Amino acid sequence: MAATYMPFNVGTIKGLDYRSYGNLKPNVLPMHHTKRMFVVKASSNSDGHMKKLGRSDAECEAAVVAGNVPEAPPVPPIPSSPAGTPVIPSFDINRRPRRNRRSQVFRSAFQETSLSPANFVYPLFIHEGEEDTPIGAMPGCYRLGWRHGLLEEVAKARDVGVNSIVLFPKVPDALKTPTGDEAYNDSGLVPRTIRLLKDKYPDLVIYTDVALDPYSSDGHDGIVREDGVIMNDETVYQLCKQAVSQARAGADVVSPSDMMDGRVGSIRSALDAEGFQHVSIMSYTAKYASSFYGPFREALDSNPRFGDKKTYQMNPANYREALVELRADESEGADILLVKPGLPYLDVIRLLRDNSPLPVAAYQVSGEYSMIKAGGVLKMIDEEKVMLESLMCLRRAGADIILTYFALQAARVLCGEK
Ligand code: PBG
Repeated sequence: MAATYMPFNVGTIKGLDYRSYGNLKPNVLPMHHTKRMFVVKASSNSDGHMKKLGRSDAECEAAVVAGNVPEAPPVPPIPSSPAGTPVIPSFDINRRPRRNRRSQVFRSAFQETSLSPANFVYPLFIHEGEEDTPIGAMPGCYRLGWRHGLLEEVAKARDVGVNSIVLFPKVPDALKTPTGDEAYNDSGLVPRTIRLLKDKYPDLVIYTDVALDPYSSDGHDGIVREDGVIMNDETVYQLCKQAVSQARAGADVVSPSDMMDGRVGSIRSALDAEGFQHVSIMSYTAKYASSFYGPFREALDSNPRFGDKKTYQMNPANYREALVELRADESEGADILLVKPGLPYLDVIRLLRDNSPLPVAAYQVSGEYSMIKAGGVLKMIDEEKVMLESLMCLRRAGADIILTYFALQAARVLCGEK
């Protein structure tokens, strides 16, 4: 089983560091479960110093007592500095933090944060088509055919330890309405896909998105009144039906991303009333009205037809307000708290981490992904290293899990498969 093959944190050594340190060679060992991992090899001494003379322990001890101490190699000379190096007295400081960074062994021993494929949730775009359609603004991402491409992508992800996905549907325009009723059609694209996935991979963990925007003819997350107001309670009514429909199909975690007030509590009650006590809620607790969602909206053709999402998504200037959302979500029964976007909002991730015992998720959104991809394609940055560093930093800030379009690519690196 792919999900359990990484018994300890080897990923960070391989993925982030080994290339940068010339003295550390990845050593590929065959493991008992077909997977491989790199280990740091202690330096071996293969020269002539260990020649044995066939003496007993007692003879060796007697020789030393008699003063016949065997030769060991001399202490190496102090390495010379380049000509012109200033000759100065050493600083009289007792704290030199560089001591704990001086070799890969020390650095690995003292590494505070780890990154593993088990931390990733892989967002996947699906559509009704048979082919996989590339998404222009997200190089490497596709709208996957729900019956073919999707299953292959999930198999690849499971192969490298990513066993959690979140589904985003591209819904045909003809099915979009002002009230987004396709969102709770039990035969709709998402419920149908969940049933197919669960049939093929019963232990796959499936997260779903709960919001009306892919189904709304207005491209908003909620129902839009004549005067442009997004109707809160009426939208939540629809979201409850959507969440129950997803749970009925087999979803493990429903994730309201709509930012309506009171939706977590209402969805919890709706799920429980239908016997889905075991289905979790990952709430988009602090979801900001961000321009980093641009490529995603292109992928799903879900741009708001008018206006913006600022009356429900949070103002990017606000920090304390995330605590208001946190308290609501906690008291309404959320199982996981999500911050979105990720990297520009590390302070908010830390805020939630320090103010709640619940697991925290970070969403590295489409714009963050596309910027790293673009910088890599243009050779302005090292795509792979920046990818791994950005994910590690989300973990350091306090995220337990990360929703990232890099999930498969990063997991492959962490497993030494690339
Ligand atoms: C919509 C939703 C959005 C994303 C996830 N769910 C877009 C939005 O709020 O407009 C964005 C994800 C991304 O940019 O990667 N409910």
